[in-house]
Amino acid sequence: MSRPLRVTVLISGTGTNLKALIEACQSGRLSAEIIHVISNVGSAAGLKWAAQAGIPTTVLEHGRFPGREKFDRALALLMASGDPDLIVLAGFMRIVGEPVLGPFAGRIINLHPSLLPLYPGLNTYQQALDAGDRHHGSSMHFVTSELDGGPVISQVRIPIYDDDDSGSLRRRLAPEEHRLVVATVELFEQRRVESADNHVFVDGRQLERPMQLNDRGILET
Ligand code: GRF
Repeated sequence: MSRPLRVTVLISGTGTNLKALIEACQSGRLSAEIIHVISNVGSAAGLKWAAQAGIPTTVLEHGRFPGREKFDRALALLMASGDPDLIVLAGFMRIVGEPVLGPFAGRIINLHPSLLPLYPGLNTYQQALDAGDRHHGSSMHFVTSELDGGPVISQVRIPIYDDDDSGSLRRRLAPEEHRLVVATVELFEQRRVESADNHVFVDGRQLERPMQLNDRGILET
């Protein structure tokens, strides 16, 4: 039997997606082990979820480094500790460069609040509203050098209502994101997913479109 999936989570803020992952591990929904939580913001509220669960945390403040490259090198060293199988960027508000992507290619995934390839970057809720979209959602994708541009593994989608604003959309999407991040890590735990040639393969087959989270919290092709 293979060892439980070892997961390192990177955060910058409230960490509700980290909390969802911790709870899924505690309840047995996931058999993965979160081995390390790294934040680039010392005051990140999400650090408390890790501390309460007894998970080691490290703060690596990017402002203390004289440039992106030096920060990335230090981050890559930290990420390597504990020999993780998967790195989850869950609200980690930094672009990572080659020093991180090189050693961890195919093992870093990011959660982004849009139906990628729509709306990489910030303010995705308002962008969807301004465009008159009828749906919004979140995606999990492999991290590459292109901002929010790596191959997309999975998505969850919610309707946009006439009276939605960016706040209401964000609040309704949050619990769906939590289910998405758990279901996506489960795919890795089951060793069902990998990336090659900028594509996602699930069960050995190339995905033609991202897997979609259904109402039961299960990802469907
Ligand atoms: C999520 O909306 C995620 O999609 C985005 O940042 C937010 C993080 O939320 N990348 P939290 O820190 O997990 O509560």
